[in-house]
Amino acid sequence: MAGLLGSVFLLVLQTYAAPPEFIQVWPSASTSGPGLLANETVTPSLVPPPGTSKHTPHSIIIGVRKGGTRALLEMLDIHPEVAAAATEVHFFDWDENYSKGLEWYRELMPYSYPHQITIEKTPGYFTSPLAPARIRAMNSSIRLLLILRDPAERVISDYTQVYFNRLENHKPVQAIEDMLVRNGALNTRYKAIQRSLYDVHMRNWLLHFPLEQIHIVDGDTLIRDPLPELQKVERFLELPPRIVASNFYFNQTKGFYCIRSDGRERCLHESKGRPHPPVNSTVLQQLRSYFRQHNRNFYRLVGRTFNWH
Ligand SMILES: *[C@@H]1O[C@H](CO)[C@@H](O)[C@H](O)[C@H]1NC(C)=O
Ligand SMILES: *[C@@H]1O[C@H](CO)[C@@H](O)[C@H](O)[C@H]1NC(C)=O
Ligand SMILES: *[C@@H]1O[C@H](CO)[C@@H](O)[C@H](O)[C@H]1NC(C)=O
Ligand SMILES: *[C@@H]1O[C@H](CO)[C@@H](O)[C@H](O)[C@H]1NC(C)=O
Ligand SMILES: *[C@@H]1O[C@H](CO)[C@@H](O)[C@H](O)[C@H]1NC(C)=O
Repeated sequence: MAGLLGSVFLLVLQTYAAPPEFIQVWPSASTSGPGLLANETVTPSLVPPPGTSKHTPHSIIIGVRKGGTRALLEMLDIHPEVAAAATEVHFFDWDENYSKGLEWYRELMPYSYPHQITIEKTPGYFTSPLAPARIRAMNSSIRLLLILRDPAERVISDYTQVYFNRLENHKPVQAIEDMLVRNGALNTRYKAIQRSLYDVHMRNWLLHFPLEQIHIVDGDTLIRDPLPELQKVERFLELPPRIVASNFYFNQTKGFYCIRSDGRERCLHESKGRPHPPVNSTVLQQLRSYFRQHNRNFYRLVGRTFNWH
């Protein structure tokens, strides 16, 4: 009996941070042997791992889109005291979702143990006009994570993602220069450029949260050398240091670090880290010089500089 309970417990441990759809298959995984959970009167999807519960997040990765939010969440998920949400919720920036209420939001979060903190990521929040006030109304002491990359590189990544999505859906695509330039001038109304105006968006967040509650992760550094950036996040979230160098290994083919934890290895999805198209150098210069003043404003706002061009 003890052995049986032990193996059930092990299963629970293995799936505690799993996405909801994974948790539903959990009891059926134990039907190979007779056991408590083989009792058919127990509805699998209604059985949370014992001792767990759901919470609105203790921390949210608010953006920026194409900044490395997925990588950051996956890497933080290495930490035994982190329960990472599997889905992007868009709770605070869409009225349709918001009107469903906090109960709905909580249900979409993973089961977690009392010693764990729940983290979700919704990259659109950083540029959402509504998100800051709404998140504050939910939990004014929440800790926010913001991962940023060079704003011009981010624009090209943003374009690249849309480009491949359109290709896959057999929709017409335009060259990046045609998006970036209109009538010979930089098309500053292009959404991807707007999303890279970090100073503009940050000002909105600082109306609702003190700077101390927003930790900025350098996305360019995280990709090159993940551990130091993750250690800073551990300190910010007041988590004990548990992420170590051996949690990462470099994949030569991908040119990225992959994750090794709990005896499993995982790399980011193929769509992450796609090579960028070449961009006309004159246009790239225009783009960089447009961001220069915005970047300086941002450095002043957050009291810190970044290696952006
Ligand atoms: C499942 O459990 C219930 C109540 O504990 C019991 O009455 C029932 O016989 C069990 N069913 C099976 C298939 O073991
Ligand atoms: C929230 O709303 C947006 C837009 O309606 C939708 O795309 C997204 O999937 C919703 N989130 C969830 C978890 O349903
Ligand atoms: C609000 O966030 C803080 C910081 O993560 C956390 O300690 C606290 O439990 C949260 N409150 C609620 C009600 O979730
Ligand atoms: C390295 O990346 C390649 C290409 O994405 C992938 O096919 C391979 O499985 C990865 N190898 C390891 C050891 O992670
Ligand atoms: C880049 O674009 C400019 C116009 O914006 C054009 O004059 C120039 O020839 C282009 N350069 C190359 C290498 O295509």
